[in-house]
Amino acid sequence: MFDRNFVWGAATSAYQIEGAAFEDGKGASIWDVFTHRDGKIFENHNGDVACDHYHRYKEDIAVMKALGLKAYRFSICWPRIFPEGTGRVNQKGVEFYNNLINCLIENDIVPFITLFHWDYPQALAEKGGWLNPESPRWFADYAAFAARVFGDRVEHFITFNEPQCFIGYAFGRCHSQAPDVDCSDAEVTRMCHNVLLAHGLAVAEMRKSAPRKIKIGFSPCGSWKYPSDESNERDVQAAWDATFSMKEYTIGLGISWWSDAVALGRYPEDGLEKYGKYLPAGWQEDMKIISEPIDFMGQNHYNGAEAVGTEDGGYKVIKPCPGYPMTANNWPITPKSIKWCAKNLYKRYKLPIYITENGLSCRDTISLDGKVHDYNRIDFLNKYLIGLSEAIDEGAEVLGYFTWSLMDNFEWNNGYRERFGLVYVDYRTQKRIIKDSGFWYKNIIETNGEALWRK
Ligand code: BG6
Repeated sequence: MFDRNFVWGAATSAYQIEGAAFEDGKGASIWDVFTHRDGKIFENHNGDVACDHYHRYKEDIAVMKALGLKAYRFSICWPRIFPEGTGRVNQKGVEFYNNLINCLIENDIVPFITLFHWDYPQALAEKGGWLNPESPRWFADYAAFAARVFGDRVEHFITFNEPQCFIGYAFGRCHSQAPDVDCSDAEVTRMCHNVLLAHGLAVAEMRKSAPRKIKIGFSPCGSWKYPSDESNERDVQAAWDATFSMKEYTIGLGISWWSDAVALGRYPEDGLEKYGKYLPAGWQEDMKIISEPIDFMGQNHYNGAEAVGTEDGGYKVIKPCPGYPMTANNWPITPKSIKWCAKNLYKRYKLPIYITENGLSCRDTISLDGKVHDYNRIDFLNKYLIGLSEAIDEGAEVLGYFTWSLMDNFEWNNGYRERFGLVYVDYRTQKRIIKDSGFWYKNIIETNGEALWRK
């Protein structure tokens, strides 16, 4: 069951909703540049206007209030505050986030800040980005500034959102993520190490700069395996091994390379066998900085896969059967994975958990009655929340849950095609319509999960 202080929230990110991409002194991010390259994004969409949240944040907070949200996770656009990434501060940008935070607090909604959700300053990308040995320092300075300026009112900060995506997928693996630069395994290994150093340095500096005690976490993603038969120890072990193995992953992807470093202060052995040779000299000494203690583990969770133990003590990941349930963007629907995600995450890292993203894309439309009847989303969220509650009943310390997303938004390379929101956005008029799932979620929040439909 959910604790009575359980944090029920929804999440967004800056580039996906803010718009105002070239306003009020904001510097360019790599996504501003990437989305303007022909053919990179579905139908050449871009985030120039997005949900126009920069101008409509008050209206959006009124919607959050109507949903009964306890918390809201948003990200700061780094170049909105530091147009060149370092040095000169853009006061207009600081003002925007101050107004947003104040308005959330006035409405009794707890702000959770993500410092980096992929919109890297273009000016720093031109200096080599995460490959530059100065890059950890650039991020730590920005993070310390944010903690100093917003930390009087904001208690929860997340350093990075999904390094697997902005490093693992972005550099050479898939051409659909900014900045779309091909890199060798050696280069990607160094970038990963710099991002991890940036995280650790930031944690230490933020604690020093914040005007009061703050809580800091990290939000990776990944595919969490679940046992084929939960009552079979061999399958339970298989799910664990398959989840944390680096064997199937190239550098930048996988769970353990990132999370073991942050939470346990070491790289996984099977990852070191493959990529250890590319780490910079003296990397062992960096592990202490990288694993600077954090207060919680964030985890974005969308799906996983079934694992079965084999006779020889190994494991097999089972391909889903033909016709398996899937979302509009073809992701499998696997409610059991969130249960084993929370259980195994807690078992391995022993840190309190926030599920910082979970949700799905549906082909939502406005019906003739003017409403959005998204039963698939209700069914998905209901099943995943039951999975999460089972993990809590079995001992996982889960403090909160954020749906992705508060509202439909610019879904990266899919543009506006994919709709993940509890709130529908009509991009021609910027009208917001609370979907059926939004009203359903309100009831779940009000009853602290009691209203989940169970067999
Ligand atoms: C997560 C990201 O990977 O998934 C979000 O943190 C993103 O920013 C969401 O919007 C959905 O993914 P996609 O690729 O369909 O936009």
